[in-house]
Amino acid sequence: MSGELKAAACRAAMRHVRPGQVVGLGSGSTMAIFTAMLGQESKSRRLELKVVPSSYEAYYLALENGLQVASLDEFPSPDIAFDGADQINRKLDMIKGGGGALTREKIIDAASKFVVVVVDESKLVERLGEGFPVPIEVVPMAAKALLKRVGEMGGRGRIRAGGGKVGPAVTDNGNFILDVDFGAVSEPAKLEKDLKLLPGVVEVGIFCGIADLAYVGCREGVKELPA
Ligand code: A5P
Repeated sequence: MSGELKAAACRAAMRHVRPGQVVGLGSGSTMAIFTAMLGQESKSRRLELKVVPSSYEAYYLALENGLQVASLDEFPSPDIAFDGADQINRKLDMIKGGGGALTREKIIDAASKFVVVVVDESKLVERLGEGFPVPIEVVPMAAKALLKRVGEMGGRGRIRAGGGKVGPAVTDNGNFILDVDFGAVSEPAKLEKDLKLLPGVVEVGIFCGIADLAYVGCREGVKELPA
């Protein structure tokens, strides 16, 4: 069911794609569906798009779906970015980084002229942080010291374990991820800034003021936010 809801939201988001655009692409399972659709759409409508991927996963998916890959160096302000989320509230503040791609996603989203988020209804929450920890990308040698610092700030954190390897997960940028449970976050923008100021923090998986629009795949249809 969740796959169908994600696909419905992706189809709704597709209406924003125009010929010749430079398109930022987020990472994760929803963006994998979106990228496959974008590849088909681009081929059938001869859209001549260039896509800027946010991870190795997004890069390979773009290639596999026949999309022309470009870099932020060549196109520092993509026309539009599409991205998924782990949690989103009605103000379009988000938690991202469940797939570890938060840093490149935030760079691309922040650089893009318009950001469209695509999620299924399970991601829409009243309060960010409830039921999902905040991913924080950190320089490896700072990981333990930062666990102590976020503990003093009221968070309970752990270093994310790798899959298919022993030891910590290593990001596409060669860093570690801390998953920190702060419970319900009442002031996400403040927490984002406070965490970002800690030495050793590369990026924080709280995205405030970045998304312009979200499509939420719900059982009763696709909702657009803000309504
Ligand atoms: C990747 O690091 C994340 O920011 C993804 O955007 C997020 O985890 C959503 O992924 P799914 O679409 O797989 O839920």
